[in-house]
Amino acid sequence: MTQQIPTTVETARTVKREEFGAPASDPHRFAFNNGWWFTPTWADELRDAKAALTTPERWGLVAARLPHTVREHPIDSFSEREYQVVSGYLRAFTLAPEHEGKTVRLVLDGVAQHTTLFCNGQLVGTHACGYTAAQYDLTQHLDWGAENVISVRVDARAELDQPPFGGVVDYMTFGGIYREAWLDVRNPQHLETLQVSADGDGSLVVKATLSAKSDDENLVVVSLRMLDGSEIARASAPVVGVQAIVELVAKEAQRWSPASPTLHEVSVRLVQGDTVIDERRKRIGFRTVHWDGQGLRINSETVALRGLNRHQSWPYLGYAAPARAQRLDADILHRELACTVVRTSHYPQSHHFLDRCDELGLLVVTEIPGWQHIGGDTWKRQAVENTSDMVSQWHHHPSIIAWGVRINESADDDELYAETNAVARALDPTRPTTGVRNFAGSNLLEDVYAFNDFSHTGENAGVKAKGTVTPELNAGYFVSEHTGHMFPTKAEDDEAHRVAHALRHARVTSDAAAQPGVAGAIGWSMFDYATQRDFGSGDRICHHGVLDLFRGPKLAAALYASQGDADRFGPVLVPASAMHGGDHAGGNFGDTIVFTNADAVRLFRDDTFVAAFEPSPLFPGLAHPPVVIDDLIGDQLAADPEVPKVLRNDIKATLMDVARYGLEALPAPSRDRLQALLESEDFSMELGTRLFTRYLGAWGDRAAAWRFEAVLDGNTVARVTRGPAEQLRLIADADTQHLVDAQTWDLATIRLRLVDEHGATQHYARRTVHLELDGDAELVGPHDVPLAGGAAGTYVRTIGRGGTATLRATVAGAEPVEISFVLEHPVLDSAVEARRGINAPEGTYS
Ligand code: GAL
Repeated sequence: MTQQIPTTVETARTVKREEFGAPASDPHRFAFNNGWWFTPTWADELRDAKAALTTPERWGLVAARLPHTVREHPIDSFSEREYQVVSGYLRAFTLAPEHEGKTVRLVLDGVAQHTTLFCNGQLVGTHACGYTAAQYDLTQHLDWGAENVISVRVDARAELDQPPFGGVVDYMTFGGIYREAWLDVRNPQHLETLQVSADGDGSLVVKATLSAKSDDENLVVVSLRMLDGSEIARASAPVVGVQAIVELVAKEAQRWSPASPTLHEVSVRLVQGDTVIDERRKRIGFRTVHWDGQGLRINSETVALRGLNRHQSWPYLGYAAPARAQRLDADILHRELACTVVRTSHYPQSHHFLDRCDELGLLVVTEIPGWQHIGGDTWKRQAVENTSDMVSQWHHHPSIIAWGVRINESADDDELYAETNAVARALDPTRPTTGVRNFAGSNLLEDVYAFNDFSHTGENAGVKAKGTVTPELNAGYFVSEHTGHMFPTKAEDDEAHRVAHALRHARVTSDAAAQPGVAGAIGWSMFDYATQRDFGSGDRICHHGVLDLFRGPKLAAALYASQGDADRFGPVLVPASAMHGGDHAGGNFGDTIVFTNADAVRLFRDDTFVAAFEPSPLFPGLAHPPVVIDDLIGDQLAADPEVPKVLRNDIKATLMDVARYGLEALPAPSRDRLQALLESEDFSMELGTRLFTRYLGAWGDRAAAWRFEAVLDGNTVARVTRGPAEQLRLIADADTQHLVDAQTWDLATIRLRLVDEHGATQHYARRTVHLELDGDAELVGPHDVPLAGGAAGTYVRTIGRGGTATLRATVAGAEPVEISFVLEHPVLDSAVEARRGINAPEGTYS
């Protein structure tokens, strides 16, 4: 059977987002994202929002919805000082009558970087971390039955005495209330904290703490459900003091594993007599995580770590992207790049991202915020608090396989790290701790040694021997970063550079996988990211990604994509070369690398079969090593009447060497071989030139099209052609055409790419894509985006309306592309204008 699959270098595998799975909802939480007012300039008078909201224009207040960034920025070349401001967010609301007398708290999931919160003019609290959630108890400040106001002072300056600040930081830290907000409304007696551990043997332990002691008889009832809501186990325990520990073993629970990531929902209820006083729900997975000197096992199966580091930033939006875009990144990592792991460098990231990792079986290493620098006492206290917040707020995600409890690449500080380890272990005894070093011989207070191994130079071994990095050979070990700044690679760099970048990722990934005792390697980084002035290429961008800023794949992405088995992920066939000699010094393009998960690659020049090639033996750690095509002639000379049989092998070797090195730079043995040929009567320079043009040359009548075919189990499963471009085509690939503006705004990601008629990216096309959007949505960023490396991107966001929208993308030389969007708006009708004092529709408090 011959299956024709149009597979191109850069669009080898792009995913469409499925509709959201439903992470467990909390019946006592109301979305609180709409109806905010924002000013980039905080003034102390804004503490009392009531007065300010009567004259919003006087304070420069504009309507805002969360997630929100203090400043939308250009794609590159902007200063971090632009977002390092103290800004203000104000909001009015009236409580629903049935909420009177309850405990009312405001939960802010993520605010960059320091928060001071006021309710009705009074200080409620502060939070000194830009990456963990904070909860503010408003109860005693509220006016029941009247309008209430909240003001949030958001400090995004780098002078803050909290992680990650104090030294330099290689990423922009942005500003704003950039994750969602919730109003949490519960009975005064409620479940204050929950710790949920679900083991691979089906045992579940729930530790619940009550808000206060009471004389009533309280029971905590735990119900374990399938995601369709059907209950499969139930247990309860009385509250003793303020704590209840409920344990059960669920025989029917299905295990969670990377290959089969089955999730369950646990509902925890506080019950007095027949009355349910409070309820919390979590989505969980049953699995056992075990690291040791051999590597990582999940439910006793060895798992090889192959992945990338992720920052949480986007072009234009900084940190402020809603659920769909967060989830898309997990889809890209797992389904496009076949990664088994992601490291959320260098801070805990959105629950939407983690929820999707849980659903996909994509493993996660997360860590406390920080970058190399350790500050003074206040700073260290905050790092310890961040550890506790990270573990308590993220512990229900089964995808997390280790807690990073050290500041990334910091020096040893045994006192501090003894404390962070103790905090993490007390809160979650089931999962190991780790910490990322950039030097050998660090004191290991954690369970797992993580090492940023940047030792590969392109010529040497991919990774260091574990024993030269740590004497702790019985401890788990993995490479937490590699490549990155060692070989910055822009999407628009020339082919040789892009190939070298991809091969570095291949070498490190292979050598880490092949070394016993090394659980795997996580490359730096998933995509190019905005950085501060001390880093980057002078444009405030670290071009370290295997994807570009818009998540468009560079060549190195193909190395990752090709590691996924074809039966699970589909066939991958990505020739590393566009087969244009003119992109290479001397016109010599040398060996051609092909990234594929097939058994073999067959090469055709035009329609003539050249040869078949198998994966290279030089990458023994890779499931699917790249194929190296070192012969563009094959057996064709046998049928050529001009080629004497006795000279055939020497002529072929000479032609290939000329293609590889150029006539002037032939190495000594090939020069000698050519000399010997020239001394024979049956060979001449003219014949050589004729044969070169016939089989290898790519000009005049012989401008060649090279066809690659991936062969799997004897079948051709993919075909790719590389040759001269005659026609251009613009691809606009949207992750969704159906946006839902419900609890907050929604965002579609559109990846743009200019290709030729064979699907090959036009890397050097210097053109601008012009974007127009009509309808009930809005374009994020400019209307004109330049192609870089043949690719660009854009975003479409909802604006609180239902309806339709059409995006039209045009570029010179190609047909325009249109994408239509359906915009669903199930909850609010015109809520984007700040509507003050309106009670909550279901699920929201807007
Ligand atoms: C590492 C660091 C990363 C990033 C990377 C660049 O040292 O941990 O945050 O800066 O280098 O390669």
